[in-house]
Amino acid sequence: MNLTEEITTGNYKGEKIVYGGITHYKYADCAEENLITCGEKQVHKDLAKAFLKMQNDAIKDGIKLEIISGFRSIEYQKTIFPCKFKNLPPTEEEFIARLKYSAPAGFSEHHTGLAIDINSLEEDFADTKEYEWLLKHAQNYGFEMSFPKNNKQGLGFEPWHWKYTGTEEAKKTFML
Ligand code: DAL
Ligand code: ZN
Repeated sequence: MNLTEEITTGNYKGEKIVYGGITHYKYADCAEENLITCGEKQVHKDLAKAFLKMQNDAIKDGIKLEIISGFRSIEYQKTIFPCKFKNLPPTEEEFIARLKYSAPAGFSEHHTGLAIDINSLEEDFADTKEYEWLLKHAQNYGFEMSFPKNNKQGLGFEPWHWKYTGTEEAKKTFML
């Protein structure tokens, strides 16, 4: 198996993926006992607590925040990363384009249960009052945007994707 195939199938064993100017870091699955259901999605219990507080305060400002993606297991991510490819293995071009917005299995922040997608997966989420509210307030609840414009990992802009770093444990999870 060559490197592209290893990464695509979730069999790459390195600590990080550096490819085409893009970097993805390795993450472990959230421990079962730390997962709870929040709205309809599974997330780490510490994130849930912070999110519910944020959601509740946001509503008072007329802002509706919903988790549309939370915990995703490494096994599940094995089906997500390759799902947009026309053929396997993908072409170099397809592979790099995919790496920019999707993490290969073993390398998604969603594995940790400490990252969520909020409201939308469209870039124009950045034009909404909900996004504006998050930019202003999310840090007060322990949330930060993982992939702002021009992020160091070289990923695409993901205004909807926020990680929780409000506890020491969570902070350590994302110490890159
Ligand atoms: N969509 C981002 C890259 C992730 O899965 O972590
Ligand atoms: Zn995400």
